[in-house]
Amino acid sequence: MKISVVGSGGWGTALALLLLENGHEVTLWSYAEEESRILCETRENPMLKGVALPAGLGLTTDLSCVRGCKIVVLATPSFAVRSTAHRVAPLLDAETVLVSVSKGIEKETSGTLTQAIQAEVGAEHPVVALSGPSHAEEVGRGVPTAVVSASEDQGAAELVQDVFMSPRFRVYASDDTVGVELAAALKNVIALCAGCCDGMGCGDNTKAALMTRGLTEIARLGVAMGGRKETFAGLAGVGDLIVTCTSMHSRNRRCGILIGKGTPPEQAVKEIGAVVEGYYAAANAKALADKMGVEMPIAAAAYEVLYHGKDPHAVLTELMTREKKHEIEDSWV
Ligand SMILES: NC(=O)c1ccc[n+]([C@@H]2O[C@H](COP(=O)([O-])OP(=O)(O)OC[C@H]3O[C@@H](n4cnc5c(N)ncnc54)[C@H](O)[C@@H]3O)[C@@H](O)[C@H]2O)c1
Repeated sequence: MKISVVGSGGWGTALALLLLENGHEVTLWSYAEEESRILCETRENPMLKGVALPAGLGLTTDLSCVRGCKIVVLATPSFAVRSTAHRVAPLLDAETVLVSVSKGIEKETSGTLTQAIQAEVGAEHPVVALSGPSHAEEVGRGVPTAVVSASEDQGAAELVQDVFMSPRFRVYASDDTVGVELAAALKNVIALCAGCCDGMGCGDNTKAALMTRGLTEIARLGVAMGGRKETFAGLAGVGDLIVTCTSMHSRNRRCGILIGKGTPPEQAVKEIGAVVEGYYAAANAKALADKMGVEMPIAAAAYEVLYHGKDPHAVLTELMTREKKHEIEDSWV
């Protein structure tokens, strides 16, 4: 099958290699001429050191590579998803399926990324979100990984499942696009907080509490927005949360560690040198929680640290000394 991957960062490249290995005809599109030149000359992506790009992988900066493709994978940072979909839209064949693999919430609309793509490409193109615990560095090396292919369109979700499935990349299909995408975007906020705890020298207890309560509030917002509760206990939910909060591959966690050690947030984001989606998602989470009237104390605390320079130590004390609660909200009712 002819497939284009639009966005040649670490994730787009790892997925392009996986699709190539699965026997598809794959072209990887780069946003920047310089990025494409490096890929062509070295046959390696600096984000995936030691992983060779085989001669069979097409490399281009010409977006017309999407013409004639049955599937187009969008793998840009979340802020560029709508503009990229807008550029791609007039070049698509009828019924081309779009796959969003970015993790974020659109800043301007507070909508999901598949909603932004759908608005740009039109209703005739099914849109799928592919998400789960999946570091590019590991998928690029063929480390066994499992993810979710989510769409309201069952045929499209299952097509994407078939196309990506391999003995080292297992794909589950889901109809809960909203839940999968919100889980993917919001866990990055919790990963930033987890890194922050590590940077401040907190222990395993603190991180476990943060992850558990973080998932609770992610699910609270997700369900309020139409997602299914079970999705948050699945690969795109707790699965991705575990991997992002515990791994040094996670740039969100690494950014949080710098902040926890005292680096100002904006400088920490710059030092990471690649997109830190959790930084932007924290602002989206705050806006969405306010709009939906959903309580998200950890996301609100992250927002204060990231955007108002509040001291993470003070924020941690405030979180620990909030009014007492029942763990399960409807206990004894
Ligand atoms: N890296 C991972 O392990 C991983 C795993 C799953 C999901 N994701 C998600 O995939 C998305 C991309 O992540 P990545 O790791 O590949 O990022 P990256 O920082 O490695 O690369 C980002 C790519 O986007 C391109 N880009 C920058 N500005 C652009 C613009 N205005 N228009 C179009 N393209 C532009 C860059 O040239 C670069 O190729 C993110 O949303 C991320 O959360 C990443």
